[in-house]
Amino acid sequence: MGSIQIDEKDSNRVIIFDTTLRDGEQSPGCSMNLDEKLAVASVLEEMGVDVIEAGFPVASIGDFEAVNAISKQVSNTTVAGLARATPKDIDRAWEALKPAVSPRIHTFLSTSPLHMKYKLQMEPEEVYDAVVESVGYARNLCDNVEWSPEDGTRTDHDFLCRCIEGAIKAGARTINIPDTVGYTVPEEFAEMIRMLMNRVPNIDQAVLSVHCHNDLGLAVSNSLAAVKAGARQIECTINGIGERAGNCAMEEVVMALRTRNDVMPYSTGIDTTKITRASHLVSTITGFSVQPNKAIVGKNAFAHESGIHQDGMLKNAQTYEIMTPESVGLNRSTLVMGKHSGKHAFKSKLAELGIELEENQLKDAFVRFKDLADHKKEIFDEDIIALVDDAVVRH
Ligand code: KIV
Ligand code: ZN
Repeated sequence: MGSIQIDEKDSNRVIIFDTTLRDGEQSPGCSMNLDEKLAVASVLEEMGVDVIEAGFPVASIGDFEAVNAISKQVSNTTVAGLARATPKDIDRAWEALKPAVSPRIHTFLSTSPLHMKYKLQMEPEEVYDAVVESVGYARNLCDNVEWSPEDGTRTDHDFLCRCIEGAIKAGARTINIPDTVGYTVPEEFAEMIRMLMNRVPNIDQAVLSVHCHNDLGLAVSNSLAAVKAGARQIECTINGIGERAGNCAMEEVVMALRTRNDVMPYSTGIDTTKITRASHLVSTITGFSVQPNKAIVGKNAFAHESGIHQDGMLKNAQTYEIMTPESVGLNRSTLVMGKHSGKHAFKSKLAELGIELEENQLKDAFVRFKDLADHKKEIFDEDIIALVDDAVVRH
């Protein structure tokens, strides 16, 4: 059994753990078949994801087969399988993961008062024992074990520290703190990460990870705050898909780290030029369309309509773009023709369509374009061609 090498001397290297195929697939209506999962896994491996959480093997035969097939297919990325804190779950995960070059068992148990009382109906002492037992059990099978205290951000700090210490002693190499219900806020979460780094005596024997849900739209901000406080693994999904409002969006967190490296000097192994392809693939497969104004991968993320912005873009793209479209795998930005567009952009659009007009023809065409744009939501190239034909004919 091997393990994928990450430069551990680089203390600013952030491990990207993608859970599109596990938590992402838990979005209502998002399930994928085996071939689709293999296609997504292949893109994730190509883009340099460090860990692919391929599924929850005990959940169904389909999940087991997907984790097993991905374990056989992938060679440059660690493959993780999720398991509750029971021998049955852990055995099933291990069986599915066995063919992987670098397998990881990810086991979890709730630790918040609410979850322990109502969901597990277990006393804290019983939970603690189950944590130590389950992690030890997993570690006897696989030397790469991750442990998560579910609902970690609503867990009593003393109890959380104790469970984490016990899990590391039992062999966990990664400790993941889930903000299961997307409840925390950046300053609070950063403080929690700092508290764990200070209070858990053996924390330096594990990588501290975060898993943020987006119920308040804070998953990316919370993940970044945690990294600044010392976390070195981010769990995320393509397009931010996942339970309820989703998970931390990989494209956003990775591009934030890259674009604002001046204030967040952390690196990932992600080839960001593969982001657009991965986003399209996941959206096509799941049928979950990406909202147009979604950061990084939305249709409008590199589109400009206002005349002032278009004019600025034509002079220097950095006036209105903080990252290049090429850096996320797009060919170019788009200047969307609409009622806010100015003459400069209109002329440039005509040039793109291979149309050259004399000054008075241009003036006439521009007036007609503005009139059309006032009445039509979207102006297509064909509209502009027709309008120019008219302008030329009328002249
Ligand atoms: O959100 C969550 O708590 C999870 C755990 C299983 C890691 O997905
Ligand atoms: Zn989750």
